[in-house]
Amino acid sequence: MRPLRVAIFASGTGSNALALINKAQTLSGALEISFVLSDKAMAPVLKKAQEMSVRTYLVEKKLDRHNHEQEILKLLREHRIDWIFLAGYMRLLSGSFLRQFSSWHEGASQIVNIHPSLLPAYPGAEAIARAHQDRASQTGVTVHFVDEGMDTGEIIIQEALNLPSEAPLSDWVDAIHRLEHRMYSNFLESLSLGKPRTFYFEENP
Ligand code: GAR
Repeated sequence: MRPLRVAIFASGTGSNALALINKAQTLSGALEISFVLSDKAMAPVLKKAQEMSVRTYLVEKKLDRHNHEQEILKLLREHRIDWIFLAGYMRLLSGSFLRQFSSWHEGASQIVNIHPSLLPAYPGAEAIARAHQDRASQTGVTVHFVDEGMDTGEIIIQEALNLPSEAPLSDWVDAIHRLEHRMYSNFLESLSLGKPRTFYFEENP
């Protein structure tokens, strides 16, 4: 069996991408991070991935959404990618993108996202800051399959955290990011062990 091939999409800092890259390097060849893709030229994740010897692509949205997604699909096909991990990728994927990608995997949904809240609470940007501002009694992290909506796909794993409402926002951010890194890298590891099952990239003749 060949190694699973994973692409990471990220628009920003890249701490989750880095946690995934580090975990993949411990999985003794069962899984590889084939590339990190960003839509933002200034995203620190690009340099961080390069420093870890991971190939990177910058695919900016210069024209319309369709052209942008076609460029990305071309890369996914060239690299025969099995799974996409969104890690702070601040862009929605269209239904036609999702359908094309799943057609290469026997119709299976093999795109996941991580989000810093207990979805369906606080979808969208600045989730941690909004929960902190509301003094939410409980927060947490969700890993879910990706659909066309904003942080709306089927939930795979969720872990709750109780953080003191009087603690500064920076403490909340640190604690939630630590939990994200652990949950996302554990999920990556479980893929390498066959859970959930992977439908390997295959182009229909
Ligand atoms: C992470 O907290 C991730 O959960 C969030 O963006 C941050 C990226 O941080 N994603 C979303 O809000 C998706 N709606 P990172 O660049 O350090 O991994």
